[in-house]
Amino acid sequence: MPPATDDIVAALKALHHEIEACTGCPLHESRTKAVPGEGDPHADLMFVGEAPGYHEDQQGRPFVGQAGKLLDRLLASIGLTRDQVFIANVLKSRPPNNRDPQPDEIAACTPYLWRQIELIRPKVVCTLGNHATKLLTGSQRGITKVHGVPQATEINGVRLYLYPIFHPAAALYTPSMLTVLGQDFARLPQLLTQSPAAAGGPEAAAESRRDAEPDADPGAKPASPPTEPAAEAAAPESRPASATEGAAEQLGLF
Ligand code: URA
Repeated sequence: MPPATDDIVAALKALHHEIEACTGCPLHESRTKAVPGEGDPHADLMFVGEAPGYHEDQQGRPFVGQAGKLLDRLLASIGLTRDQVFIANVLKSRPPNNRDPQPDEIAACTPYLWRQIELIRPKVVCTLGNHATKLLTGSQRGITKVHGVPQATEINGVRLYLYPIFHPAAALYTPSMLTVLGQDFARLPQLLTQSPAAAGGPEAAAESRRDAEPDADPGAKPASPPTEPAAEAAAPESRPASATEGAAEQLGLF
């Protein structure tokens, strides 16, 4: 049985104090503030980005720069605010000059992410971009191939859907990517109504809409807790409600 609400909040708080004091990789020497993550400790929907950037490092909060503003707009397009979801990153400390996370940094930091997932027990973990997607799926298939296709999996005893989408920072300056990001985002409300426990698990029939597409980023990262390869679940059948699409259109996301 999962721990009681108060216990989860206390455990998450303790974990975040641990992250703020972490010296597990060299990034602790250059960071201003660690960025554990924030949001609803009981959120059904969790986002996992790559690593804090300049503004996040200054404030100790995830996604507070330009990419974060886009994430806020995307959330609003499906009727959510950031305090109704949980937002975290693969790395909790900023890499110098926003360079790519290194394998030793990922290895040192990911136990924190697995523990956050174990405590929050989200139904859907939305991975933003290649780094988070490859880490959580345990697969080298890049975001260009797998975006918008939910994958049923289990992480630290929590059955959930992984839902890879483009990173908002990548979409900021690429209109075509922004369109696809808005479309993928608009499928989230329906996915949140589906039960990952009933999805059939890793043995569920795999279905990819984009097998033929090239992988935009062949960079690879080590995987851990998805103890079994994530299986692609059937994508939600119907398109999002027109109200959602309308809102997204007004925001210029399509
Ligand atoms: N990009 C990320 O991946 N994470 C943040 O917190 C901010 C920008």
